[in-house]
Amino acid sequence: MLRRLHHEQPESFAFTPANQAWAEAQMTKYPEGRQASAVIPLLWRAQEQEGWVSKPAIEYVADMLGMAYIRVLEVTSFYFMFQMQPVGSVAHVQVCGTLSCMICGAEDLIKVCQDKINPKAHELSADGKFSWEEVECLGSCSNAPMVQIGKDYYEDLTAESFAAILDDLAAGKVPTPGPQNGRYAAEPLGGLTSLQEYEAGKPAHNASAELAVAIGDTVKRIDGTEVPLLTPWQGTGKKADVPAEKPRPKPVAKQIEEEKAVPDAAEVEEQQPETLSQAREGKADDLKKISGVGPKLENLLNELGFYHYDQIAAWTPEQVAWVDNRLKFKGRIQRDDWISQARTLAEGGDQ
Ligand code: FES
Repeated sequence: MLRRLHHEQPESFAFTPANQAWAEAQMTKYPEGRQASAVIPLLWRAQEQEGWVSKPAIEYVADMLGMAYIRVLEVTSFYFMFQMQPVGSVAHVQVCGTLSCMICGAEDLIKVCQDKINPKAHELSADGKFSWEEVECLGSCSNAPMVQIGKDYYEDLTAESFAAILDDLAAGKVPTPGPQNGRYAAEPLGGLTSLQEYEAGKPAHNASAELAVAIGDTVKRIDGTEVPLLTPWQGTGKKADVPAEKPRPKPVAKQIEEEKAVPDAAEVEEQQPETLSQAREGKADDLKKISGVGPKLENLLNELGFYHYDQIAAWTPEQVAWVDNRLKFKGRIQRDDWISQARTLAEGGDQ
């Protein structure tokens, strides 16, 4: 598979405040001038937050670390653990296709992915909720066949039990990870033949599954609030201050999912709004204050003849359809509610 930037990219990327604090703390592990050493942890956290590594995320990490964009792109494209295309908004499934799993039925699991998600790996399901790929041995060979979903392993699978897990995830449930055939861990299928004294009093799940069950959401996107931020190497060992959460762009997979739910602009007869050939008194409003509008979209809006908040605030549904048909990501005007944002800004409010 070609490892390159995906043709659809979000406008922007930003770490959540807690993830930002975590990322800045990681950078302090390295001597001054060697912050580039934190590139993989930062990219990984960006992926944990968004599900994949977008171009804006690469640039954001590069800016944080003082690296050239191409260097961070090289790291991202080299390691297959980084997803370079949008993944399912609920789950990205990694099916082990190496020897033990293949012997024990990995092909059946791949068939389930093809039937339930998409015939092609790395493509989103029709509802945007799932994506899948085949990966090399995940080190759980004694529990073959298995898949990794998010941070967790689902082991000893059959086509039926795997399909049921996907159905549960689609229904918003959180399946319990670990062996799915009644085994506790990797003991013989017929039960323990030694160390039987440890049978009594063991927790309900093995250590790996236990933590996932405790967190309660195996497919949660990591926003940094899951565990206290500790910086023992700085001699404090204290929880760092994390600024309050600010609104941030939605993950692209979520955007795509929502865009599918927005009625096609073709369903509404489009009507061109009144446009301007230039900003009034040569002073355009900062359209980037509208959440969802970045520099590129602002340029596009200006090219279309929109320079002011009040112009956008006055759009009718037919005029929204006209503008929508000229944007790359359809549906974003409704999704980010540009009209009421523009109205607030036109009235002197702030976003
Ligand atoms: S072969 Fe699948 S986990 Fe090792």
